[in-house]
Amino acid sequence: MADERIALVTGANKGIGAAIAEGLAAQGLSVVVAARDAARGAETARRIGAQAVMLDVTDDASVTAAAKEVRDRFGRLDVLVNNAGISGGRSQAPGAVDLGTIRTIFETNLYGVIRVTEAFLPLLRAGTDARIINVSSGTGSLAWMTDPSHGFAVRGSMAGYPVSKTALNMLTVQYARALSGDGITVNAIAPGACATDFSAALGITLERTAAQGAAVVIDLATGTARPTASFLSDEGEVPW
Ligand SMILES: NC(=O)c1ccc[n+]([C@@H]2O[C@H](COP(=O)([O-])OP(=O)(O)OC[C@H]3O[C@@H](n4cnc5c(N)ncnc54)[C@H](OP(=O)(O)O)[C@@H]3O)[C@@H](O)[C@H]2O)c1
Repeated sequence: MADERIALVTGANKGIGAAIAEGLAAQGLSVVVAARDAARGAETARRIGAQAVMLDVTDDASVTAAAKEVRDRFGRLDVLVNNAGISGGRSQAPGAVDLGTIRTIFETNLYGVIRVTEAFLPLLRAGTDARIINVSSGTGSLAWMTDPSHGFAVRGSMAGYPVSKTALNMLTVQYARALSGDGITVNAIAPGACATDFSAALGITLERTAAQGAAVVIDLATGTARPTASFLSDEGEVPW
């Protein structure tokens, strides 16, 4: 169908990414579930009525091959959701930092987004009303982190994960500025703390579901409003 919209979501085999992919498919988009484990990606794609592609955001060859596959299948991309991300675990406390852990976090949460965005840009330029949505985190908000009345102020400090998300926020603004002439919007979102393997591995028990976290992405991907260079949650603008 000429007017079908094509969306690709990274890290879409589970968690918030799977919920985003499922929500977009339910809205009638042709969704590509991108996952580093091909079998698990295919399983999620089958469950939600989507296609799958193997994509490891840390691997140049895998990202290049995935972009070629999407080009061969569809010839374009209308929505790119950079969702894949890792917490990096607990070896991030300032004063006891494992630098290798920090590098690993940045390789996925920041360099991975750059790698994927660069590879898919030609396809997004060929798309219509194209949108890039970066799944950031409220922990990347300098405003919230430095607000003594905010819940984040009483949490432990981390030298890796939140720093990678603050960098991702600035990356979002830089791509938004660069791509405004192409009509491509670029925004960051904070899904809120959701019960996924990510939070479970940190020993955090939460009631908010991945689907609730995904809702802001689905609105941004499908809505008529076309903000760019914004940082949004389902409650509105997040202060940078
Ligand atoms: N859950 C929360 O409370 C929360 C809050 C704020 C922001 N976020 C953000 O939301 C996003 C999704 O998190 P989640 O909670 O859904 O976590 P999750 O359940 O652990 O899912 C993370 C997804 O990212 C994938 N991934 C990790 N490294 C990858 C790589 N190198 N290449 C491709 N895929 C990779 C994982 O694949 P595998 O299954 O192969 O590991 C998985 O599909 C992340 O960017 C996270 O920072 C989450």
